[in-house]
Amino acid sequence: MAEASLWYKDAVFYELYVRAFCDSNGDGHGDLRGVSRRLDYLAELGVDCIWLLPTYPSPLVDDGYDISGHYGIHPDYGTLDDFKELVRAAHERGLRVITDLVLNHTSDQHPWFQASRRRQEPYTDYYVWSDSDHRYREARIIFIDTQPSNWTWDSLRGQYYWHRFYGEQPDLNYDNPAVQDEMLRVMRFWLDLGLDGFRADAVPYLYESEGTNCENLPETHAYLKRVRAVIAEEYPQAILLAEANQWPEDVRPYFGGNPRDPSVPGDEFHMSFHFPVMPRLFMALGREDREPIVEILRRTPPLPFNSQWCTFLRNHDELTLEMVTEEERHWMWNYYAREPRMRLNLGIRRRLAPLVDGDRCRLELLYSLLFTLIGSPTIYYGDEIGMGDNIWLPDRNGVRTPMQWDAGHNAGFSDAPPDRLYSPLIADSDFGYERVNVAAQRADPYSLWHTIANMVRMRKTHRALGWGACEILPVTNSAVLAIVRTHGAEVVLAVHNLSSQPQPTLLDLRPWHGLRIEALFAQREFPGSLGDKPCALTLQPYEYFWLQMVPT
Ligand code: GLC
Repeated sequence: MAEASLWYKDAVFYELYVRAFCDSNGDGHGDLRGVSRRLDYLAELGVDCIWLLPTYPSPLVDDGYDISGHYGIHPDYGTLDDFKELVRAAHERGLRVITDLVLNHTSDQHPWFQASRRRQEPYTDYYVWSDSDHRYREARIIFIDTQPSNWTWDSLRGQYYWHRFYGEQPDLNYDNPAVQDEMLRVMRFWLDLGLDGFRADAVPYLYESEGTNCENLPETHAYLKRVRAVIAEEYPQAILLAEANQWPEDVRPYFGGNPRDPSVPGDEFHMSFHFPVMPRLFMALGREDREPIVEILRRTPPLPFNSQWCTFLRNHDELTLEMVTEEERHWMWNYYAREPRMRLNLGIRRRLAPLVDGDRCRLELLYSLLFTLIGSPTIYYGDEIGMGDNIWLPDRNGVRTPMQWDAGHNAGFSDAPPDRLYSPLIADSDFGYERVNVAAQRADPYSLWHTIANMVRMRKTHRALGWGACEILPVTNSAVLAIVRTHGAEVVLAVHNLSSQPQPTLLDLRPWHGLRIEALFAQREFPGSLGDKPCALTLQPYEYFWLQMVPT
């Protein structure tokens, strides 16, 4: 069967933490029915696809990424019927739904691991066991703040087991064909419920091999191609989105196809997050210099025609600084995370708005970059209203606090007594729910929420923003980033002043001489048509505008 439409190429994704979104039964935890109740809100914001963080049964050591049962729903979140109903109700509104598929590991409480510890067949070799903790020494530790080793001793089995994340998350053994088949069964189960695909968690680490860093191995790609083949054959409407926190040249193979010929269709992932571009958006803003963005775009290879990057400003994890140099990491920490408590592993545990001191101009500028550069953008829940964080909560919980719907009881998130909430609300004077909430922003046509909703709408009506080639227009002033997106006859130009100061600019728009200018987003007037001289203007601090060049 042929694979269906390439809807994901111009989609806007919305990353949603179910526990935080809406509590339908007053127990203090958000749940699937709560999400169903709020679908109209998401449809109004205009997003196309919801990515639900894991809702599987789990002891929640890693907030659900430690799965103890693949075929159910954690009781805090509801039931399988609630899940089906959510997918149905989303589809009814034209929204798609994907969720996490955690291939790399399970919880140590998973029955497979418990059986494996006891050497019960067929689970004996479901995990990576070893008599020695000296194997695979070239593999880095990811959770460096808490994990001394990738091996943990299991006294019951009398061996060490391998894990790339918490010790409570043993890695599955993909050398075992039974594991390979088992995870395909899991995938089919959820797709049979009508799901539109998966965000595949931590895919670079599926296989281990001595003498390597155990990332991006050929065996891993071979298995992932098998996963895609099943999708292509049995669920052609579904997508696979890779979480591979790697350099662009190492992510490129996750799309498959032919690296020298983009017309050859990709046969691995439909999409992959572009991790390295993310910190560079913040770097460019902080340094008031476009170079970090330009450099990483130069380093980003072309993709097969049926593939797409997925981009984001923030997500449910720390703002990762793995894909920057040591010097850049320290610069980012010094600039955006002065307080040690703001740092976690190789990253920064802060939300988008506090990173820019709640400054509306810089927030909009970052969103404008996100919406006009390559890839399909992802909005992290709450960032559309500029929610705050709480760095004093453990791990990454400070960026997973309850959604702020209104200024009423529990921010409109839950009817529970406040001390029953799974997490304290953000209640500080800058970002507290009484000030920052959905109701207030929807009522104010000039709010951040409306600006973001407009940007989402613009992407829907201008295909160049999703499909188009992306070029940087040469501008001498390095504080100015001018992005040109072209798709067929459609040309969109997005100009950004990354600086806190006014910046003189000479834009050479002569290639579009004679075309009419239509302002899509702009705080200033433009002449109706383009003349044959470079256009001189002074951009205001953090000003941005989007123009379309329309044939007359
Ligand atoms: C991914 C998730 C993160 C989780 C880790 C282990 O990086 O985004 O939240 O802790 O995988 O599953």
